[in-house]
Parts: sequence; structure tokens; C-alpha cells
Amino acid sequence: MTIADNSRAFELGSRVVYQVYIKSFQDSDGDGMGDLRGITSRLDYLVDLGIDCLWITPFFPSPQNDNGYDVSDYCAIEPIYGTMDDFDELSRQAKARGLSLMLDMVFNHTSTEHEWFRKALAGDPRYLAYYKFVDAEPGATADDPGKPPTNWESKFGGNAWEYVPSLNKWYLHLFDVSQADLNWDNPQVREELAGVLRFWRAKGVDAFRFDVVNLISKPERLEDDFEGDGRRFYSDGPHIHEYLQELVRLGGIDGLMTVGEMSSTSLESCIGYSNPANHELGMAFNFHHLKVDYPDGEKWALMEPDIAELRDLFARWQQDMTAGGGWNALFWSNHDQPRPNSRFGNTESHWYESSTLLATCTHLMRGTPYVYQGEELGQTITDFTSIDQYRDVESLNYYRILQERGLTADEAFAVVHARSRDDGRTPMAWDDGPNAGFTTGEPWLGLCGNYPTINAKTEMADPHSVRAYFKRLIALRKAERVIQAGDVRFLESPADKVIAYERTLDGERIVVQCNFSGEEQPALELDGGEILVSNYDEAAQTSTLRPWEGTARIWR
Ligand code: GLC
Repeated sequence: MTIADNSRAFELGSRVVYQVYIKSFQDSDGDGMGDLRGITSRLDYLVDLGIDCLWITPFFPSPQNDNGYDVSDYCAIEPIYGTMDDFDELSRQAKARGLSLMLDMVFNHTSTEHEWFRKALAGDPRYLAYYKFVDAEPGATADDPGKPPTNWESKFGGNAWEYVPSLNKWYLHLFDVSQADLNWDNPQVREELAGVLRFWRAKGVDAFRFDVVNLISKPERLEDDFEGDGRRFYSDGPHIHEYLQELVRLGGIDGLMTVGEMSSTSLESCIGYSNPANHELGMAFNFHHLKVDYPDGEKWALMEPDIAELRDLFARWQQDMTAGGGWNALFWSNHDQPRPNSRFGNTESHWYESSTLLATCTHLMRGTPYVYQGEELGQTITDFTSIDQYRDVESLNYYRILQERGLTADEAFAVVHARSRDDGRTPMAWDDGPNAGFTTGEPWLGLCGNYPTINAKTEMADPHSVRAYFKRLIALRKAERVIQAGDVRFLESPADKVIAYERTLDGERIVVQCNFSGEEQPALELDGGEILVSNYDEAAQTSTLRPWEGTARIWR
């Protein structure tokens, strides 16, 4: 590792990012949806938690078919979220508190309501070339369009191509039919998107998240996938590094705090995306560790998480990314994932321990931790009992698809209940009052019924709360150089359900042990050192790991 690499490690490794899902964070005007002014009103809460940077999910004009990930104008504000003045005020207030704002750039696709797509639909050749349009067979009709250009599947279910009768062409949509994939092979598209970055840069924005950005480069030859859903052809596609480097250069964002969301990616690609020598991005999100409870890779089926596999994935991504000069974003949770404590822990018997175990495990790793709103409170998945309570397009599609595949309505509901993106999108629980203090109106998505006990107000008054533990982990990262930039090595697990690793820097050493089970497990035999942090009473440390115990010891 060169000295230059390690200075970046101290920089990125000393920060913690907090993700705000704007629609569910704080409503300021009673319409039941969160907004920019709501975020501004909660900045002091975030400062108290100790975070450095606020990632806000898209608040640009959008028909909201995918809650803002269907953008119809990249350089304006969606009215339900406020005005440009509200954004400027948020930005001023954040800066005054030393927080930076990270904007979410959805550059793989636009909404079909975007002016570019509307002009394409009207037949304007310039804008037809902005998207992935392919001619249909002559004589195709709306009723009988023939075969789509490939058999690729949309990530939200169904074929990824939509037929447009007036043009007699198909367009590609890897996500919803209202999210049309942009044609990055067209230099005009790349210039437009770099212009979007320059627009926000000129407003003082200095951090960016790039949505599914490793899907932007599609293969030249379009072919059917007989082994999968098509992703192997377009994930980490042929010109991906070239396009990212150009975007970073033209957008003027080299060296800023940036992160790419990488869908079905490889470790090798992520080293490329995040090694500073390549002038691409600061770090990468990968999702392999969040598929250890997908039987045969199938999200819409249930199984217990495979902890041995989880350990191997963490070990590989931590050690090999470090060796290759890459940088990991560390996370369990975001607006696309069910709450992790309900998924990897046991929130009925050990809610506090399982919520804090997960945080212990990732916050002490090498990388930059991300906290998703409500995760620091231990918010859980929903207690919804009917499909009518769900809003997410993917969940509603799969509820239908699972029944078409032969599941009963109850079986389909059980899967959706455990897997829905809405599980993580229920409103932020601020207090135990009406609608948890989120809105004075009718919330756009129901609250989780446990908010009278799991909420920010109650937990801020309790020094032993989940939130207090998160605050402690964040403060530790600021204080301990070995957490920020230390090397990382996974240790042989003393038991199947235990994950253990060490961090080392300049003669200091930390050993982290995490028991991913509700039973006692053997611990590593360690001599000396002192407890750095633990989710069990420090005075009562034992030679075994208790249910869901997460503990770290330090030698100075
Ligand atoms: C990303 C977003 C997700 C969105 C998708 C399409 O995965 O996180 O919410 O639906 O991209 O933009």
C-alpha cells in the first residue's frame, strides 16, 4: 500500500454517510410525504449522531413511478419536495454545520416523461439516439408486436423491452417501463449528463451517488440470454471505465466524495471503479453480502442467511479490495433492502443485540460506513398484513408474478412481506406521538407499528439505546486511526456463526468478533488488550460470545 493510498484511507475512512430517503424522512407541510424543509429541520439530529455527509435520494421532478428514480428533469426540484430556494437553504444550513450533501444521480435511465424521451417519441432523430431504440419487424402492430429484440428481463419483472406502435420500435427499460435506458454510446448523452454534474457543482454540491451506474454501457450486439436474465451482458459493460472516467473529467468531480451503486458487479471491476489511479469514483456499493439469504440467487424466495458465505464474502471484499487499492462502502441497509435486523437477527427475542451486532460488524471494517435512516434506531420491517398497504412497484409486480408461478396468495404475501423494498421505506419514527412525528397528514406509506417504543425521542433519552450505540461507533471511527486506515485480515472463525477479523496500523491492533446467532458460541482465545466496544456489558465479558454479541478488543 503506498502512502498516497493511505492518505485517502484516512480521509474516506474517517467519514460516515447518512442516507435520507426523502419521501419518508420528515414532512413539513402535512401532505404525508417528506420534503427538503423537513430535512433542514432535522439537521441538528444528524449532527448529534456525528455523521459527516448526507446522501439524499432523488428529489428531482418525477412522476414518482419509482419514487424519484424516474427523473424527468435533472436540474430542478420536484414540487412535492419543495423549491430550489428550499434546496439552497438546506445546503446553506448543512454547510454551516459542517455537513456535506450527496446528491443521487440516476444516469442509467430517465423517466419516459423526460423532455428527451418525449421528443424521441415524437420521432425527433436527435432524441431517438438518446435511448436504446431498436426497430421492430415490419408489419408489427400494437396487438401483435412480434418478438422483442432480446429475452432480457426487467429488474422489476417482465420483458425489458417495450414496443412503441407509432415508431414501430422497441425501447430498452432495465427497470420499470417508465424508466427508459439512456444510450451512453452517444457522446451527446454523455455531455448532457456531465452538464448535470456541473450544474450541481456550481451550486456547491461536492458529493454524488451514482445509481446503478455499472449498467450504463450496453453491449453492441444484442443477444438472448439462455443462462440468465441478461445481466451478464450489460453489468460492468464493455466501455464502463472509459465512460466513467469521461463523466468524472467533464463533470469536474475527480477526487470528490463519490460512490457508485454497482449491480451484480465483480470485485475486479470495483477495484477499477474505486482505485484513485483510475480517476473514476471514490468507492463502490456491492450487494453480494445481501444475497446470502437468496436460495440459488432468487430474491423472491426465502431461506435463512448463510453466515459462512457471508463471512467469506466479507473477507474477500475487505482483503482483496484493499490489496487492489479499491475502497468499499460499508452497509447493510438502504431504501431497497428489508431492515437488516429483522433479516439477519432476531428482533423478537434480541432486538437490541441483533441491531447493534450488525453495526459492530460493518462499522469497524475498512471502508466508509453508511447509515440508512432509522437503522440507528433499530427500526424493523413492517407489520403490514395486506398487499393493499404496499406501494412499491417491484413488490406489487412480484406479488402478481409469484401467484402466476403457482404460489397461493398467502404464500406470495409471506415472501413480499419479508422481501419488499417498502420494509425499509416506512416513515422515520421521530417520537411516540401521532404518526411518529413524521407528518401531521396521512402518511404516504404506513408506519411500522412498533414506533411507540422504537423512536428517536425515546432512544435519545436512553444512554443504552441502539442509537446511543451507533453514536458511539461513529465517534470511535473519528477517534481511532486504526479503524480509519488500518489493514484488514479475516481470522479463522471459532464457530460457523461467528465472523472475526482484525485491523492493524502502526503497532495497534483491533480484533472484532461477531456472533450471528441466538446461541452462545466459542470466542477466540485472546490475551491482554482492552475492550474497545461491545453490545454487552463490558464489565461482564466472558470467554464465550453470548447471543448476537458483537465485541471489539484493542491492543495499543
Ligand atoms: C437503484 C435504486 C432503486 C431504483 C433503481 C432504478 O437500484 O436504488 O431504488 O429503483 O436503481 O433506478
